Amino acid sequence: MQSKGELVRVEKQIDGVLYREEEISEKVRELAKLIENDYKNLDQILVVGVLKGANIFMGDLIRRINLTLEIDFIAVSSYGASTESSGVVRILKDLDVDIEGKHVLIVEDIVDTGLTLQYLTDILKRRKAASLKICTLLDKPSRRKCDLSIDYVGYEIPDRFIVGYGIDYAEKYRNLPYIATIEE
Ligand code: IMP
Ligand code: MG
Repeated sequence: MQSKGELVRVEKQIDGVLYREEEISEKVRELAKLIENDYKNLDQILVVGVLKGANIFMGDLIRRINLTLEIDFIAVSSYGASTESSGVVRILKDLDVDIEGKHVLIVEDIVDTGLTLQYLTDILKRRKAASLKICTLLDKPSRRKCDLSIDYVGYEIPDRFIVGYGIDYAEKYRNLPYIATIEE
């Protein structure tokens, strides 16, 4: 009974659906094909998901990439409980594998200021990967605070706070199968 009340409250904060499940699935398929084509002649492909947000996107993406690859995850803190990036990034969980000599593809849910990925790529570059590329499902270019080059972008979106398909607001809404904006 209590959970029903909670559900109603949760739904109220969802503003509108930005991308439906079917659209996302088609977009993920497109990205996977681009990646597959670019990596098809490479050995030692390592796909690195940035936890927790990229979890669902990455799971769908790698199942559409028809190549031999490995996966790993890294967890960083960026916002804490706030919705603004502080620029201070900390590694909460490092990679399990050595990336030296590997073709590393970082998978992120959403790039906002770009500070998280700038920091992450700086660190990973020092570990002598054979190559390092970035794939993000969502990008808010108007919010960028650094010069970051992203190799694969699903959707460019305006400066709205979004949730769903792995992406949270205060750790909630990650399980929505669609991407939505929330009331600000
Ligand atoms: P950046 O360092 O500002 O680029 O922040 C990137 C991280 O902030 C992403 O990995 C997300 O976890 C989070 N983030 C950025 N924008 C949003 C949003 O609209 N909703 C939820 N999380 C977001
Ligand atoms: Mg994230």
